[in-house]
Amino acid sequence: MRFDKNPFFSDLTAQHKRLAPQRITQLFEDDKTRFDNFSVQAPHIFLDYSKNLVDKHAFDALINAAKACGLEASIQQLFSGEKLNTTEQRPALHTALRDSSEQTIFVNGENIKPEISIALDMMGTLVERLHKGEHKGCTGKPLKQLVSIGIGGSYLGPKTVVEALQAYHLDGLECYFVSNIDGSDLARTLPKLIPDQCIFLVQSKSFGTLETLENARSARRWLKTQLPPNANLSHHFLAVTSNVPAACEFGIPEDKILPMWDWVGGRYSLWSAIGFPIVFLLGMANFQALLRGAEAIDKHFRNTELQENLPVIMALIGIWHRNFFNYDSQAVIPYSENLFYLPSHLQQLDMESNGKRVDRNGEAVNYHTGAIIWGNSGTNGQHAYHQLFHQGSCTVPIDFIAFKTSDFEFGEHHTHLLANCFAQSQALMEGRSLDQVTAQLNDQGLSDQEARKLAPHKVIPGNKPSNTLLLETLNPASVGALIASYEHKVFVQACLWDINPFDQWGVELGKVLETAVFRAMQNKDEAQKLDASTRGLLGKLT
Ligand code: F6P
Repeated sequence: MRFDKNPFFSDLTAQHKRLAPQRITQLFEDDKTRFDNFSVQAPHIFLDYSKNLVDKHAFDALINAAKACGLEASIQQLFSGEKLNTTEQRPALHTALRDSSEQTIFVNGENIKPEISIALDMMGTLVERLHKGEHKGCTGKPLKQLVSIGIGGSYLGPKTVVEALQAYHLDGLECYFVSNIDGSDLARTLPKLIPDQCIFLVQSKSFGTLETLENARSARRWLKTQLPPNANLSHHFLAVTSNVPAACEFGIPEDKILPMWDWVGGRYSLWSAIGFPIVFLLGMANFQALLRGAEAIDKHFRNTELQENLPVIMALIGIWHRNFFNYDSQAVIPYSENLFYLPSHLQQLDMESNGKRVDRNGEAVNYHTGAIIWGNSGTNGQHAYHQLFHQGSCTVPIDFIAFKTSDFEFGEHHTHLLANCFAQSQALMEGRSLDQVTAQLNDQGLSDQEARKLAPHKVIPGNKPSNTLLLETLNPASVGALIASYEHKVFVQACLWDINPFDQWGVELGKVLETAVFRAMQNKDEAQKLDASTRGLLGKLT
């Protein structure tokens, strides 16, 4: 059902009209138990959504809209392998990758659980052989440096998890990621490598991505210059792909190719063999803990009534902001330097899934869909872009993410980190009025005239919405739960917007045009076929 045809769309419009002139602080005055009524505990994650301009009437309307679009049935279809990726006629079974139950799941008549288990065993065996030095380089030395070559979902997920779990890295191992075709990415990595002790992992579901193939070829050319003549380079390459023939053609032995499947989208694939860097650097036990954390959220998402369902609530608050307050972006700010890459992963997860303009019937939608997702770590953002949050001309809803405890204790650092996180959401909600600011300036000894002149520049309007996700500590299970929560948030929003979150046709045109521009850079005659601007830019290269 198109969102504008949802029977509760008009009710939500009316609820917004009623609430928009109000202040969040007033809602706390009206309901002394608001914090309890607008927060929810899920496995590993406590969500405080009380600092949003939403009350019971509006929230109930959001829940009704979710029910009206058949969300509960859609959730079950997601887990059971319905072909929800309608344009590619595929299911989206990233949840199957972390399903430890005996439940069978069929794709085209075949139970996929055995092959998932085989792939997991293959990852474990390969990593164990690397760790034990049984899988050696061409000169007989152990391979202790893994270089993952991949981009998009073949990079961001594992990179985010590896960076998040610094405290869990096994000793004596190094893991590097090369993603961009910009030579500086490879150039900064190669000098760190000991040629006969490194192994390149080419991660590409299609094994056809330009950046990844060019980087893999350049890495192989470099390795050839570093190793003895006639060295067997195949010792130093692995692949993760669903395109085995292409990986074999590149020269990677079939028994060194880990599988990927069409029923797992790239941006949802860190739970598959794409997560190999996680297993290599953290060990299989921690990778399993990551899967279990995600599985705990899956069970919560699948079995919890909508009004107590954390990913559903995150999604509905997002829709409230996107479609009724017309906020164009959503910031995600983890108060954790180790989660620095999380917003980048969520950018692909959310914007490549819900950056869509037609509904599942191919009809252009007349309402907003996916928002612009951005952010990076707090407290750093406070010294960079929080000024706009507090006094800018636009409103940016924020997901703050914080952890009760840290693995990195230095004095009061973690206490200050938490205090800053909570203070930011409080400041965004409360602000400071003209009267409050003026009185403060008078108290500081400014004359009435001086205070009147400066005060308008110091007013903080407040009434800015935010969620706070509070977790126990940053560990494999909580990271798994966090990322799975956002996967399901994206899915719920797609259900209400009636869009397909699992394809990404929009990225194809750029790839096709790159080929034409690249060709025109080699042959001036080809340039004549291009637009004047591109021709002009090419002209500037000479
Ligand atoms: O171009 C977009 C995209 O296909 C993403 O969806 C994907 O994660 C990325 O490129 C990398 O694709 P592959 O894993 O096939 O190299």
